[in-house]
Amino acid sequence: MYQRCAAVLCVLAVLGLEVAALGECELARLLQDKLRYEMRLQYMKHYFPIDYTLRVQHEEVLRMANVTRLRDKKVSEASLRYLWFHACSQAVLHILEVLPEKHPSRGYTQELSQLLDALGMEYSGYRQHPKLFAPIDDVAVPHPMSPQSDVDAAVADLVKQLHSGDSRLKAVRPKALLDNCIKVLRMLFRAHCRWDST
Ligand SMILES: *[C@@H]1O[C@H](CO)[C@@H](O)[C@H](O)[C@H]1NC(C)=O
Repeated sequence: MYQRCAAVLCVLAVLGLEVAALGECELARLLQDKLRYEMRLQYMKHYFPIDYTLRVQHEEVLRMANVTRLRDKKVSEASLRYLWFHACSQAVLHILEVLPEKHPSRGYTQELSQLLDALGMEYSGYRQHPKLFAPIDDVAVPHPMSPQSDVDAAVADLVKQLHSGDSRLKAVRPKALLDNCIKVLRMLFRAHCRWDST
């Protein structure tokens, strides 16, 4: 799983420098745009056989209800965005995996994957060095927090589970996976990025 992510990141490093230079909200905005209804319908439904499903892990299915439950448990918004990023990236990678080289949905799915990877870099930097650029009396002090310290424990567990590949599988339609992606994206980024309610 991680190897695959790494390969995609390599491609991105070569081809996607422009995308990689964007910030979290700009990337989320681009994703929102790419995930709009007509595109999901065309690329994730019309170009797939009728009733086609993928088998994914339960943790990859992140619905608005999941987020509401986690919010009730006081999981931080940053952690929720982090979880959303992992669930959505996994979903996109799974879709990419079943698409043959010349499938008409491949280019679209690859673009989604690149945007998500760029967003991932954003998060890895923040997660590991939240205060890297804050000068502390001009002395370089090692950051006291561990790499995932600003990710809630509950979310860190879910993310680990999601990448473990050893939980129960569930059959889901590709469009349903992306429907969840965009619904949760809107739910989590609208206020954070101060988007108008559209
Ligand atoms: C979301 O909730 C469903 C049950 O409704 C569960 O199977 C799934 O693992 C949850 N996903 C996450 C990421 O928590």
